[in-house]
Amino acid sequence: MATAPLLRALHGDRPERLPVWFMRQAGRSLPEYRDLRVGTRMLDACLDPALAAEITLQPVRRHGVDAAVFFSDIVVPLLLAGIDVEIQPGRGPVFAEPVRTAADVARVTAIEPAAVVAASGPIAEAIGIVTAELGEVPVIGFAGAPFTLAAYLVEGGPSKEHLRARGLMHADPDSWHRLAGWLAEVSRAFLGVQTDAGASAVQLFDSWAGSLSAADYREFVAPHSLAALEGVTVPRIHFGVGTGHLLPDMRLNGRADAVGVDWRMPLDEAARILGPDVTLQGNIDPALLAAPWPVLSAHVRDVIGRGEAARAHILNLGHGVPPEADPTVLTRIVALAHGEDA
Ligand code: CP3
Repeated sequence: MATAPLLRALHGDRPERLPVWFMRQAGRSLPEYRDLRVGTRMLDACLDPALAAEITLQPVRRHGVDAAVFFSDIVVPLLLAGIDVEIQPGRGPVFAEPVRTAADVARVTAIEPAAVVAASGPIAEAIGIVTAELGEVPVIGFAGAPFTLAAYLVEGGPSKEHLRARGLMHADPDSWHRLAGWLAEVSRAFLGVQTDAGASAVQLFDSWAGSLSAADYREFVAPHSLAALEGVTVPRIHFGVGTGHLLPDMRLNGRADAVGVDWRMPLDEAARILGPDVTLQGNIDPALLAAPWPVLSAHVRDVIGRGEAARAHILNLGHGVPPEADPTVLTRIVALAHGEDA
């Protein structure tokens, strides 16, 4: 039986210590991260094993969180597959050639997903360093879900309502399914590299799934997210933003051991919808990180209280740590969750 609180919670247990970690805990909220990143582009940092390992470890050392989340990005496997992508500071992933037509889809999906594994030496090496350093503290590997990756790839960059990706589903369903199926294989390969190298849980980020109707989610997206998690041998967390209307589907027929909930829906309500067979993760409102401690701590206590309605709870934010967040506040939330804050 797994002993780390995070892994116990993922198995449906309620460990004595409430496990807590933060999405985007490794990143710009930490001055030590900003120092290390000077002069190195984001995706170059992701492919430098010593650097990626060190950035992954920084928030664990500083905050005492219950898990590391591997420092990388959802577009890294696409880069490893040979696709021309960069991450523009303050903007996000940008692709040199958007994938919009049937011919574009054919060009991209001609790449063997195995190419990701062949090029993933730096990823495996970085995870090896992290797991050796952390001992019992679990490392969470991750990948982007097919829809969220497609939202960038079809558009060519960040977009608000992901109109082009959602449009492709209906305009050319065959191309959509070909593309999403290929992205599922790529994400599955990336997850496999991380678990083979020692990651003991994974999170599938479908950050932008909330823009989909439930009908479109079911028909065009869920089967591919399910495929991305096929054969993954460690506990699986599935997360999206604004997915209250999709929650039952986010369980992926039980393939998700935990569902991540954003700040919009209280965890007790999510637990009622999802039932007793799934762990909940979330859902501190990132906006409240800037509030005075009495306000924030009351909110955190409320989240913890509502989380008791689920079979098990992993405390997290409802989305990533904003770059301007005060990291000492995050450390204090960890102490509160662990019963150490006065
Ligand atoms: O700490 C962690 O959570 C692990 C590292 C991580 C990063 N990206 C590092 C990163 C993870 C899990 C991701 C996933 C990711 N990347 C998602 C899903 C999670 C989510 O936030 O919904 C998405 C949508 C992306 C795409 C992406 N990459 C965006 C929108 C951005 C922000 C661009 C910006 O500058 O504001 C990135 C870049 C990125 N990924 C940064 C980090 C630390 C910032 C780049 C920098 O520090 O220069």
